[in-house]
Amino acid sequence: MVLEGSISIALQKLDAGRRPPVTLVAGIVMLAALGNSSAQAAGTGNAGAGNAGTGDPARGARLYDERCSACHALDEDRIGPHHRGVVGRKAGAVAGYDYSAALAGANFIWTATSLDAWLADPQALVPGQRMEANVPDPQDRADLIAYLTTLKP
Ligand code: HEC
Repeated sequence: MVLEGSISIALQKLDAGRRPPVTLVAGIVMLAALGNSSAQAAGTGNAGAGNAGTGDPARGARLYDERCSACHALDEDRIGPHHRGVVGRKAGAVAGYDYSAALAGANFIWTATSLDAWLADPQALVPGQRMEANVPDPQDRADLIAYLTTLKP
């Protein structure tokens, strides 16, 4: 509020035809930019904390490129089904993708909890599935899940 007040006072001075020093204008622009970016950062942090525990979605995006994109894409089915909207989606339910009978017959929703179990050991969660990859490190899984959670349908 204090910041907004000082900006509007400065703008009023501009309107009145007084020319403030260039450094003052630059300072105001910088402060306004800082205000915006910290508000955005706080918003992202809250969404991540609410939906996917302590994962870092930016790191998750890098891990996804390294470990998942050989078989998966966000918007098209490849060796594995596409991932946009996977959080909240029923398991084995992308129309047109040829799942194993085991995953096609699974009856649960992808949440942070079920994704964590899947990525740790897909065969333990759904015996007979055919994804030949897993993610042993819990922090890597949390980061990947935080990233997947950002992929709204
Ligand atoms: C070697 C290829 C391969 C890699 C690498 C791989 N996957 Fe998969 N994934 C698959 C296949 C194949 C399936 C379908 C399994 C089935 O039908 O039993 C699948 C299915 C899934 C599903 C279930 C989706 C649904 O619609 O039910 C999720 C979630 C998933 N993978 C996440 C990941 C993540 C995250 C990574 C990266 C850490 C990853 N996968 C890496 C091949 C892969």
